[in-house]
Amino acid sequence: MISIILDKKRHNRKRFDCGVDALNNYLCLMANQQSARDNTRTFVLEDINQLNHIIGYYTLTMTSLDLNHLPKPLQKKHKNTQSAGLIARLAVDKRYIKQGFGEWLLIDSLKKLLSASETVGFTLIIVDAKEGAIEFYKKFGFSNFIDTPDKLYMTIADIRKSLGGCLRIGVVARES
Ligand SMILES: CC(C)(COP(=O)(O)OP(=O)(O)OC[C@H]1O[C@@H](n2cnc3c(N)ncnc32)[C@H](O)[C@@H]1OP(=O)(O)O)[C@@H](O)C(=O)NCCC(=O)NCCS
Repeated sequence: MISIILDKKRHNRKRFDCGVDALNNYLCLMANQQSARDNTRTFVLEDINQLNHIIGYYTLTMTSLDLNHLPKPLQKKHKNTQSAGLIARLAVDKRYIKQGFGEWLLIDSLKKLLSASETVGFTLIIVDAKEGAIEFYKKFGFSNFIDTPDKLYMTIADIRKSLGGCLRIGVVARES
């Protein structure tokens, strides 16, 4: 499987339905525009039987980091850090859920951010989890920020270790 950049001429964005209006609407109305302005990048996984059908997508960008929301040991360690990689959105169409595509998209997004961090240098990856998806991210090794349960993080160091070992992440020695 391979993810490719969203192409509005190729992909049927209107057909996509993950059950969350905000995520459907973002793909339909905003993702392409934001990419054209270099604000975000959206990658999709196509259905190999019907290439214009989108199985799932994720959107990547950078975000500012409030160190006060990190556990104390990480605050100290990353005191010079001001920005982080962000998985701004990730969703699988309802017709394709529970077949491992969410896991595949998450790992694919982490590989891309890890690769970007080798060039521009940042220490954390953050996800904004929709209600009901927090446990999905925790399963793969993400931890809650203090006081913001729907915002989770994982260090690049932990991701590097996890992806270096096996694809199933989460069972790794945490930095904190
Ligand atoms: C959350 C979502 C991405 C999961 O996609 P999926 O393709 O069904 O997930 P997978 O089949 O790859 O599941 C991988 C593992 O995560 C688990 N999982 C899936 N969704 C989960 C959830 N909401 N909470 C906890 N665990 C979850 C699965 O049980 C599976 O575990 P297992 O291998 O031990 O059985 C998908 O349901 C979705 O798009 N939901 C709506 C949008 C959303 O909430 N997006 C995320 C936040 S922005």
